[in-house]
Order: sequence, then C-alpha cells, then structure tokens
Amino acid sequence: MSQFHYQNQTLFAEQVAVNRIADAVGSPCYVYSRQALENHWQAFDEAFGTHPHLICYAVKANSNLAVLNVLAQQGAGFDIVSQGELERVLKAGGDAGKVVFSGVGKLPEEMRRALQVGVYCFNVESEAELETLNGVAGEMGKIAPVSLRVNPDVDAQTHPYISTGLKENKFGIDIDRAITVFERAAELPNIKVTGIDCHIGSQLTSVTPFMDALDRLLDRIDELGAKGIQLEHMDIGGGLGVRYRDEQPPTPGDYVSALLEKLGSRKIKILMEPGRAIAANAGIMLTRVLLLKSTEAKHFAVVDGAMNDLIRPSLYSAWQNIIPVTPRAGQTQSYDIVGPVCETGDFLGKDRELSIAPGDLLAICSAGAYGFVMSSNYNSRNRAAEVMVDGDAFYTVRRRETYEDQLALESLVP
Ligand code: LLP
Repeated sequence: MSQFHYQNQTLFAEQVAVNRIADAVGSPCYVYSRQALENHWQAFDEAFGTHPHLICYAVKANSNLAVLNVLAQQGAGFDIVSQGELERVLKAGGDAGKVVFSGVGKLPEEMRRALQVGVYCFNVESEAELETLNGVAGEMGKIAPVSLRVNPDVDAQTHPYISTGLKENKFGIDIDRAITVFERAAELPNIKVTGIDCHIGSQLTSVTPFMDALDRLLDRIDELGAKGIQLEHMDIGGGLGVRYRDEQPPTPGDYVSALLEKLGSRKIKILMEPGRAIAANAGIMLTRVLLLKSTEAKHFAVVDGAMNDLIRPSLYSAWQNIIPVTPRAGQTQSYDIVGPVCETGDFLGKDRELSIAPGDLLAICSAGAYGFVMSSNYNSRNRAAEVMVDGDAFYTVRRRETYEDQLALESLVP
C-alpha cells in the first residue's frame, strides 16, 4: 500500500491526515514519508542479495538533512555532485567512506575536502579532471581512489534534458577513449584506479538502455583485466524511472536481476546511484486553492504553490498527478492549476478534472524528488516548508523561509 492514501475521505501520509500538516505549517509545503523512503531504499538493497554492492542514494534528488539521515540509518551510501552535498551527508550522519563524488566540474577545494574526509571514490569525468585530482592528492600526500565515468553512447529514451549518455552530452569520457585514459590514470602516482561508472539518464522506463550500457562497460572491464588493470567495482549510475501517471518502469528487483544475470560469474562489486526511484513517490507537495477564475477559453485554479516551488511541470512539461486532499462531491470541471508567479509557464498541471472550491487543499503527487531541491526565490517568494511523517507523528524538517531570511545576504552600496 502506498504511504499516501485516503482514509475517512481525506488524504493521509502514513497515519497522519495531511490537512493537519498544512494547518500546522501552512502551504505550500512538502510532505515526505519516512516509511516510503525506507521501503524504496530497501528494495534496491535487498535485490542484490549476497552480491557485493553499495546503493548510493543520489543526494541531488532530495537533499533535506532528515531525508539523508533516514537513509544513512539504513546504511545507505551517497552519490554527491558538490561539496554542499558532501557537507549535508556528513551533517546527516552519512558515512564518508560510502560516498561517490560525481560531476563534470569539481573544484580543487572540493576535491581537497573529499580527500580529507575520505570518500569512497571520485567519479572522474575527464582527463583534465584526472590530472587536477592527481595534483591535489599529491599536495596532500594522499592517493585518490578513482572510477572513470565513461559515456557509453546509448540512447536512454527519455527527455533530452535528462539524457546524459549520448556522445553529444557533456558527461563522461568517450567510451572509445576509455582504455587509453584508464592506462594514463594507472600511471599517475596519486591516483588509484578502483572502478568504472556511467549514468545514462533519468526516468528510464525500460531496462534495455541500462543493459546496452552494461554490455559496453563489461567489455571495457574485461579488456582492462587482460591488460592487468583489475577494477574493484562498477557503478551503473541512477536513472530508474517511477510511475507519475501510467508509466510501467521495471521494479528495482527486475532491474537488478537482469543486471546480475549479465554479470555472469564476475564477482565485481556493483554500485548504483538511484535518486528519483527512492524519493519521488515518497513525497507530495501540498498547495491551497486561492481562487477560481474563468475566462472564455479556460478555467483556472490559482493556488499558493508555483513554479518556484515545483518547477518540473514548467521546465520539462512533466505531468504529476494533482488530487484533492478532501474530495468534494459535485460537478467536476477541467482546470489549469496555476501559481501566482508572473509567467505564463507558471503551472503545476493543465486540464485537470477536479471538483474544487477556494480554500481547498490539493496534493501534487510524486514530488519527493527534484521538487524542493529545484525550488527558488523567484518573484521573491519564500521557499516552502518541508515535513517528515513518521508513523502517527510529523516533524518540520525545514521551516518555511521568512522575508528576513531572503534579505539577510544582501546589502546596499555604501
Ligand atoms: N547519478 C548521476 C551521475 C546523475 O547525474 C543523476 C541524475 C543520478 C545519479 C540520479 O538519477 P535518478 O535516479 O534520480 O534518475 N531534474 C530532473 C532530473 C535530473 C537528473 C540529473 N542526474 C527531473 O526533475 O526530472
């Protein structure tokens, strides 16, 4: 059963009626379910059985400290792309030794901090980065553990903005140059080559592109082995899709068994970097209807949440279900659910059949990943509150911003 469900005609998160949350913290607000986060993480972890593995949750999907802490308590590893994410993981009680550091543009000071705390490995994306990392590690008298991110040139069949494994994308090292770069890395005195990785895109709804990428990585692993470069791990990245509407993505279990089958007798440790598959359906965003407005062409429901709170619909034309927290009887109508921001692109959903009235609370579903983390202060709006539900209790895990918070970093010229 989903952790978000109706009970007595009103929406609950676990055992908490979500309208109680909105009454307490206001709207818009994000609501996460601890149980859902744990279940989703465990589905990946358990799918591997006894095969050596490390599930590194992709922090970018939802980096709230409480979310990271819940996963850290499960024994999760973390995939980070900045020092900011590293500091969050450490503050949340995550184990630095289970952190992989991805990203195309790591700064020397970020490398230094990651070496200082002892991350599991750097996912290096270019030859230039390799040389810089070797230099930084040398200055510190350390050896940097490195996985090379290869770009396998496979089509992830997803939205072009979130497709990352094609030759024309900025990510990774061209698969055809991979062996040469591995050989170079093996020569560098302050680098220890430990792995190979890739990440081909996000919201994938079929295992086929993953298997294509896997084939290419396994070829390289075998070739390197023949040259005397033995890798300890292979990181296949994140990207497993979720159901927003009617998608039928493979389950973590399906995906992992296909992967283990391809591995055959190879004992190599497997890393994965799921973000969305853990967080998206562990969260909703609550927003209240401010007013209804009809023009000749359209019915609009103007709500208090906007594109600055949840940008996925505006940015990717993403569809996320919008449901009433307390459904009301009566005629439905087709509404565009729009926010107060001064842009035509400010919508959370279009043409939604709903029976609503001003003051009603709506839930935007599947908002736990790439929701709050992509929010901004556009139009000088305070960013939303975040709440974690745990059984019959709920906790504010990020308070709503205030206008003082927004102004605190700025000053007038003298
Ligand atoms: N690893 C790397 C290196 C990544 O770049 C990403 C996502 C992940 C793991 C996690 O992927 P996931 O399992 O969440 O699909 N803002 C977009 C998604 C951008 C994903 C970027 N990279 C959205 O809202 O759809």
